[in-house]
Amino acid sequence: MAITGVLRAAMMQLRVLDLETSVDFYTQVVGLFEVGRTSDGRVLLKAYDEFDHHSFVLRQAETAGMDFIGFKVASDDYLKYLADATKKFGLPVEEIPANSDQPGFGRRISTKVPTGHRVDFFADVEQSDPKPGIENPEIWTVEPRGIGVATFDHALLFGPSASETVRYFMEVCGMAAVEKGLLPDGNTLVTWLTCANRTHDVAVLEFDQPGKLHHVAYKLDNWNDIGHAADIMTMNEVTIDAGPMRHGVTRGQTIYFFDPSGNRIETYASGYSHYPDMPVRVWDFDHIGKGIFYYTRQLNDNFLKVVS
Ligand SMILES: [Fe+2]
Repeated sequence: MAITGVLRAAMMQLRVLDLETSVDFYTQVVGLFEVGRTSDGRVLLKAYDEFDHHSFVLRQAETAGMDFIGFKVASDDYLKYLADATKKFGLPVEEIPANSDQPGFGRRISTKVPTGHRVDFFADVEQSDPKPGIENPEIWTVEPRGIGVATFDHALLFGPSASETVRYFMEVCGMAAVEKGLLPDGNTLVTWLTCANRTHDVAVLEFDQPGKLHHVAYKLDNWNDIGHAADIMTMNEVTIDAGPMRHGVTRGQTIYFFDPSGNRIETYASGYSHYPDMPVRVWDFDHIGKGIFYYTRQLNDNFLKVVS
């Protein structure tokens, strides 16, 4: 099946408390590259293995958290479909002109999903350096530094009416549920959703406060990269929340850690490939600890309570 609709989770604008401290953290420790700054002082960043202009935007603010998550779609025609289908679903749609608040980006449509998160979609993005080579390409064009994250991967969103946000992502955006975690009564607590072949592009968990970010994840290749990331975190006195470890859910290998503002970040590696013929994998409440933290088999308190 060709990927014809929403291609992938591709960017996030994140609020931070001290901009320059955060820029140092994300460039020197996480290993993103600064590609520009906006006239209102936001900093545009990307990972070394991405073509798109930027995948991460830092904005100084009084509180940490996410401004919005962005998904790249296959065509402008699909954006037109999404605008109509989002309105029919009953959600607001704002049209954002090309090259306005996100340099290098074509026009976007923006909505607010029932969990209270702003979600943007876009089809056209200019490329920027560094980016992968395309003619007899080497494995990178600039040597990864710090943790050396490769690409934007996914985010876990916390908010009320999670089932309605999941319904929007599935019925309107064409995403597929890959795995689910259940509450003791059998209702859904959390759903992991994919746009294409990844184990997940976004996950949504029922929570009493709207618009919360549990974590945003960048991709690493393998266990060795995760171990290297842990070394870099320790040498830079980064606060690690959990890991290095594996998830039962998606089988991904992971570390959760905090940026200087208290936003939770994840380095995520491996995980299986999803195809549309696969059934949804389900974790009942008694096993959800093992699903998230496969080795300790129990959740820590922070994990379900600390959000930004
Ligand atoms: Fe994650």
